[in-house]
Amino acid sequence: MKYDLETVKQLTAQYGSPLYLFREDDFIRNYKDFVRCFSGIYSRYQLSYSYKTNYTPAICQIVKKLGGYAEVVSDMEYTVAKRIGYANENIIYNGPYKGPLATEHLLNGGILNIDNLQEIERVCATAAAYPERRLKVGLRVNINIGQSFISRFGIDSDSQDLDKAVRRLQEVPNVTLAGLHCHVGQSRTVAAWQNRARIMLALADRLFETAPEYLDLGSGMFAKMEPSLAAQFGNDIPSFADYARAVAEPFAAHYAHLPEQQRPILFTEPGTTVINSYIDFLGQVDSIKKIKGQQFAVLNCSKDNIGDICKMKTLPIEVIPAGNTPVACENLNMVGYTCLEHDVMYTGFCGELAVGDYIVFANAGGYSNVSKPPFIAPNCAMIARKDDGSSRLIKKAEEFDDVFVTYVF
Ligand SMILES: Cc1ncc(COP(=O)(O)O)c(C=O)c1O
Repeated sequence: MKYDLETVKQLTAQYGSPLYLFREDDFIRNYKDFVRCFSGIYSRYQLSYSYKTNYTPAICQIVKKLGGYAEVVSDMEYTVAKRIGYANENIIYNGPYKGPLATEHLLNGGILNIDNLQEIERVCATAAAYPERRLKVGLRVNINIGQSFISRFGIDSDSQDLDKAVRRLQEVPNVTLAGLHCHVGQSRTVAAWQNRARIMLALADRLFETAPEYLDLGSGMFAKMEPSLAAQFGNDIPSFADYARAVAEPFAAHYAHLPEQQRPILFTEPGTTVINSYIDFLGQVDSIKKIKGQQFAVLNCSKDNIGDICKMKTLPIEVIPAGNTPVACENLNMVGYTCLEHDVMYTGFCGELAVGDYIVFANAGGYSNVSKPPFIAPNCAMIARKDDGSSRLIKKAEEFDDVFVTYVF
């Protein structure tokens, strides 16, 4: 059991219920373990943390302290990184649609990965307007690593567009094409990572006369997870060491002939991989009922609190009995407070459950609090807890005004 009744009672009395619980020390240990696996094989490895996955500033600050870069895809995320003190050179601005601050970022020496040909023209216009500044860009390439869908991101590596893009950037004296970027979602196998590494190294050889400054392989690795969740992925969850061997070893071999500082930086952009397992979500049973033979427990939270994953998988839960008279449950569905039939957080619960019981959902770190809409009710608080049991508030519970401040009454 990660939490006992006394602990959750005390935490919810202090911070409210429901509640996000960020396990800070576990996060740090996992982060260091991840980086160690990659840097141990290829010393020029650099982690760039995906803000979209969870941009909670306190978490981003820890990443910064640990030496991670910030990977952002909007002006909003860029502003978080700047607000917590990142230098532009340690921020990677990606994404298919960039805001006006992307130009500030470029002019301040930040890395920006271009998604399309129109964006190239915009960068060239900026370069022409600021001939005294040197702009550093990369190209997001759209590669096929064996996925079963056509990704919409980047510039097609199998068409003339990529060579056209490179030639266009070479025409501009104050633009440096520093690297290549790719990110392919829904492809978390080791084989898919071997393909990413092989294809990106071949593209770098084809498009650059000497080694590029960086190759950014994006994200898409499994996080560590509890066995019940791993079983839903067929138990085939590679370790960080497996991924590191698939990626860092070919890089080390490919650039072994170069002095260390001339080898490209190998970026990956983990989000899920580093945060997912280190935020638990704590909700409570508000009512239990049986309708036409089906049991339901209505919780004081919603599937929106824990993100899209509960549409696809059943998150591991832990029930902490609060001491009220329990009901025997057989295939009970835990459902959210919203008025949507599909607001289902857990299906098929068997065991005892009582009103007031605490439910801890594990693996709630990615695309959870950052994806919570203000639908029907504002979001709850988040705290960071350490191994010694101390806790601090890192996101206040939202109130009426947080949602309605932009509306005109
Ligand atoms: C460019 C880019 N980098 C990193 C990530 C983070 O991926 P994950 O949360 O699977 O680690 C994403 C997710 O969509 C992305 O689009």
